[in-house]
Amino acid sequence: MPAPTAFDLARVRADFPALAGTAYFDGPGGTQVPRQVAEAIAATMTSGLSNRGQVTASERRAEEVVLGARAAVADLLGCDAAGVVFARSMTQATYDLARVLARQWGPGDEVVVSRLDHDSNIRPWLQAAEAVGATVRWADFDAETGELGVDDVRAVLSERTRLVAVTGASNILGTRPDVPAIAEAVHEVGALLFVDGVHLTPHAPVDVTELGADFYACSPYKFFGPHHGLLVARPELLEQLHPDKLLPSSDAVPERFELGTLPYELLAGTTAAVDFIAGLAPGADAAEQPRRQRLLASMRAVEAHEDELLERLLEGLGRLDAVRLHGSPRRRTPTVYFSVAGHSGREVHQQLAARGVNAPASHFYALEASRWLGLGDAGAVRAGLAPYTSADEVDRLLDGVAELAS
Ligand SMILES: Cc1ncc(COP(=O)(O)O)c(C=O)c1O
Repeated sequence: MPAPTAFDLARVRADFPALAGTAYFDGPGGTQVPRQVAEAIAATMTSGLSNRGQVTASERRAEEVVLGARAAVADLLGCDAAGVVFARSMTQATYDLARVLARQWGPGDEVVVSRLDHDSNIRPWLQAAEAVGATVRWADFDAETGELGVDDVRAVLSERTRLVAVTGASNILGTRPDVPAIAEAVHEVGALLFVDGVHLTPHAPVDVTELGADFYACSPYKFFGPHHGLLVARPELLEQLHPDKLLPSSDAVPERFELGTLPYELLAGTTAAVDFIAGLAPGADAAEQPRRQRLLASMRAVEAHEDELLERLLEGLGRLDAVRLHGSPRRRTPTVYFSVAGHSGREVHQQLAARGVNAPASHFYALEASRWLGLGDAGAVRAGLAPYTSADEVDRLLDGVAELAS
């Protein structure tokens, strides 16, 4: 069969064995995995693999897997492959970076976090700042609209700001703050910008330079890949930082940030996930295009597909009087957060599960945001669309909610 050029949902779905029967709206917690990714992981594990090196074929294979994954991530995010740091999770990468950056802070210095963020882009900064006596300032979002504007961030910037941590997209409300505008304001006061790209990366073409992010972190398991995290930055910036490391391990960038042996098989899976995305809808002249171009074309097609389904979902939920939608951000990912009058989130979750529809309820670790929205620690129901979501699945979700809401 020739490779597809435009987005073909049936074809995309055929690569995901898990989709048979269940409608997954829990992609923001982790997407399902296409068989190409699982096969790449298995093939790598049985291919003859040693520690990275140049002498034996198995040593060279490990080396190629690592360099291949750095190149794939660089294509996906529009960054330098030499600035791609692999980690166990985004949370771990953020904690590690916060600790090393905090060595340059002291009393009087300020760190800005946002109320909209997942806790992994709040707590590591809070705790690192606390450890060195630096001050934490909070950027609040509009609880009605779910928007975090550049003025909300500007309001807490000062000449003493050293770092601002903000999300590229909220994992509960879908809000996509204007990161380039925030970056400009942050850089005007001479601070660094850390962007949590975990929820943005699966839903939009990403260019870390255009975003103005000094650091950008994400997790391949949110975009069809295996469970690990990564952090990217300009290699020159990483060169200035010296994390704790073992004496015999490499002091080169990015290796100095990667503690212990890398998970080669997972990295092969991540490369396969990036290649899979690049093949979703690479455009008519795809064969001649570099992977970065195919990725951008594919992600634009994913955005169009998801936006169409998002409209259907929002319209359907909007027709149900008992449903309350939280937030209405103008620029958003296809992630919807809602409550149903008279029913706990847990009941909605269970009711939908009985219909083979996965849409859990929680704060999803965006605990500060959930509290700020007045939803406390229980949160609400989250329905997240993914590139493999179909209109039929959206209707199944709507039918399940309608039954409860009637
Ligand atoms: C927006 C966002 N940031 C960060 C994380 C944490 O990612 P990880 O599980 O790789 O630590 C998540 C996970 O759900 C997330 O949704």
